Amino acid sequence: MSPKNLIGRRGFLRLSGLTAAALAGGPLLAACNTTGPLSVSATPTADFLPDLDLALKAMPSEVAILPGAATRVWVYQGSVVKGDAASVQAIPGSYLGPIIRVQKGQKVRITLQNDLPEGQETIIHWHGLRVPASMDGHPRDAIAPSQQFVYEFEVTDRAGTYWFHPHPHGLTASQVMAGLAGLFIVSDDDEATVTLPSGAFDLPVVIQDRVFDGNNQFSYGNDMMTTMMGFLGNRILINGQPDLTLPVATRAYRLRLLNGSNSRIYKLAWSDGTQLTVVGTDAGLLDAPVARDYAMLAPGERLELWADFSGRSLGDELKLISQAFTGAEGIVPTSGGSMGGMMGGGMMGNMSGAPALGTEQDLLTVRVERQEAESLTLPTTLVPLKLLQASDAVNANAPRQVVISQRNMTWKINGRDFDMDAVADDEKVKAGSIEIWDIVNDVNPGEMMDPLGMAHPFHIHGVHVQVLSRTLRTDYPEFTPGYESVSAGFVDNGWKDTVLIMPGETVRLLMRFHEQAGTFVYHCHNLEHADQGMMRNYAAEA
Ligand code: C2O
Ligand code: CU
Ligand code: CU
Repeated sequence: MSPKNLIGRRGFLRLSGLTAAALAGGPLLAACNTTGPLSVSATPTADFLPDLDLALKAMPSEVAILPGAATRVWVYQGSVVKGDAASVQAIPGSYLGPIIRVQKGQKVRITLQNDLPEGQETIIHWHGLRVPASMDGHPRDAIAPSQQFVYEFEVTDRAGTYWFHPHPHGLTASQVMAGLAGLFIVSDDDEATVTLPSGAFDLPVVIQDRVFDGNNQFSYGNDMMTTMMGFLGNRILINGQPDLTLPVATRAYRLRLLNGSNSRIYKLAWSDGTQLTVVGTDAGLLDAPVARDYAMLAPGERLELWADFSGRSLGDELKLISQAFTGAEGIVPTSGGSMGGMMGGGMMGNMSGAPALGTEQDLLTVRVERQEAESLTLPTTLVPLKLLQASDAVNANAPRQVVISQRNMTWKINGRDFDMDAVADDEKVKAGSIEIWDIVNDVNPGEMMDPLGMAHPFHIHGVHVQVLSRTLRTDYPEFTPGYESVSAGFVDNGWKDTVLIMPGETVRLLMRFHEQAGTFVYHCHNLEHADQGMMRNYAAEA
């Protein structure tokens, strides 16, 4: 069942090329050079009997997003080969999706067919699902156009809002930008014990930003600023649609939010000051609802909201907005060096004229259009979380340090770039063991080239994590105001797989590794950062 890996070396060569091209501000795709067919083969396994057998074709398509010309996009076209037809739901009029819906315990086979243009190798990663490493969509498993990859795994994760997206190294950001992404929604028996809005009242809210050119096409810059800082768009799309107004009834809804943007971070809030009611995070429901004035949602993260419109009148409108915040980029600590301040502000200019990170933006309008007599009541408890104990960690007394920082104008993990196959000694863990990792967002005050602090959404494959603590360093007071503009919005309860780490912050994570040995990646989920090499392997060893 393990597909052969024959592109490791090619991928590595491409990576070296990419870094040079990226630094020169050169076109991203120029570094991707696919010559000749790759002989990656993956065929269905005879003794794997799927409950659900799906086909997903990655291919070019067109969709009408703005008035006028249709937008050329890349989509996953899904179909059910065997199993419940409702397992795959297209989102009409959207490049996103399909939404895949499964029950915990189901065995799933998914055949990815790469029908993307020449040069576009691809592979799907099931973000948040803990599948064996060979099924996780490691970049080295990327397949060339016209090839197939067969995924076979059992869904062992708790009910939650997971998602899938491409993961070919150096091409992830541009492929997601072109439209490739979908939700993967898991249900289970625990969830079924809670009365939550369902069916037409259980809605996806995938938030992305884009830039359109004069001909309604996505415009994705290869400029150095985009490559180094991440893409920022000037147009918010919800489920692939601009200026979305959601017609609702006077009742409760379950909103499944995903930040599917390449790099933009949102500070979510209701426009009228109503508190957000959070019922779930990345990997499923919380044990009890949590009320927040605002909640942060970084690329890759999910949040489930209970949104009750039962007290409202017909015609009422309410907006989901992203509030203003600071400190996520362009932070230059001055206390330690003479370069302070020099690169702030102006550095953040964006070619597209897109609003800077942290600018207030409208995301979605909700309009009350229908009266409904009955509404659900928010449950006071949800599902049991079965959390780990920090004392169970094998390194409870000496947590592993993962330092993320900028060196030579690129973002690094423990001073290293991504290497398709390499696993350093400090990147080896024991399969099935429990560990504490401290993710340290380091800054280099006073360094001529690398003075900037930036927020990074940190994601680890193959695990769910608990956030044990957050600590902001106090030696550079420049961090504090920005930090205070976001810190009440971290929803760290429950199980996560992606965690926003602010400049100067250390986030302590607790996790149990996959029982099956294998190599997984961990990386920044700012997709431009990941493509640029802010990603590493870790090996779970038997
Ligand atoms: Cu959603 Cu490795 O990423
Ligand atoms: Cu992932
Ligand atoms: Cu990053």
